[in-house]
Amino acid sequence: MSPLLVVEGVRKSFGARRLLDIAEIELAAGESYVLTGENGSGKSTFLRVLAGLERAEVNACRFDGRPVELHNYPVWLRREVVYVHQHPYLFRGSIADNIAFGLRARGMGRAERRKLVREAIAWAGMGDLLDVPAHRLSGGEKQLVALARARVLHPRLFLLDEPTANLDAEARLQVIALIRNLCDANSTVLLACHDREIIELPHMHRLHVENGAIAARAVLPAFR
Ligand SMILES: Nc1ncnc2c1ncn2[C@@H]1O[C@H](COP(=O)(O)OP(=O)(O)O)[C@@H](O)[C@H]1O
Ligand SMILES: [Mg+2]
Repeated sequence: MSPLLVVEGVRKSFGARRLLDIAEIELAAGESYVLTGENGSGKSTFLRVLAGLERAEVNACRFDGRPVELHNYPVWLRREVVYVHQHPYLFRGSIADNIAFGLRARGMGRAERRKLVREAIAWAGMGDLLDVPAHRLSGGEKQLVALARARVLHPRLFLLDEPTANLDAEARLQVIALIRNLCDANSTVLLACHDREIIELPHMHRLHVENGAIAARAVLPAFR
């Protein structure tokens, strides 16, 4: 399988503290990866570095074989990579407005936008909520909108930060179903998470952050 993303030599420090010191990470196209590690181990920071939202020292990075500089994120790469925050920010307006935002930014026409937004809302199972202002949604519902807003852009790489953390039981199951669907599709998914059900999804590759490094893990000791 050809790699979609290769990053070599990632180092990130906060003051005197070296948080990340990663030799190499390779994500194969179309595969799904779960990133585990203790709280504060650097999972969110690593996702944010890959999304170009946080600076780090990086020796080399290639996306689909093309060299890229993460601290100087190319516009074309912004279209290929979408990051979803653990507590997604939705702006005032409707759910549809929020989902359409990225499409509008790309200059997509109104008719096409409406069609894709409608599909995304159906995908996320949010048809009943359309009249609720986005800023009034619960945490779980916001996460559904955020996933729909990411998926509607059809990125090649999804970076998802703890998408099921702090959700009630029902919202969590809905989010897991969507993630499962994303992972089954052709896109590549890297998600930070502690959620055992997600970690144990079929075909999920496991990566573990410990002492700043990332290693592949066959089976997490805690789950043996
Ligand atoms: N801007 C910052 N300045 C100083 N320390 C930070 C900053 N951002 C994150 N950290 C620290 O880096 C560590 C890793 O954070 P994070 O990447 O959020 O870990 P995780 O997502 O694995 O819980 C934490 O101890 C956090 O306090
Ligand atoms: Mg985190």
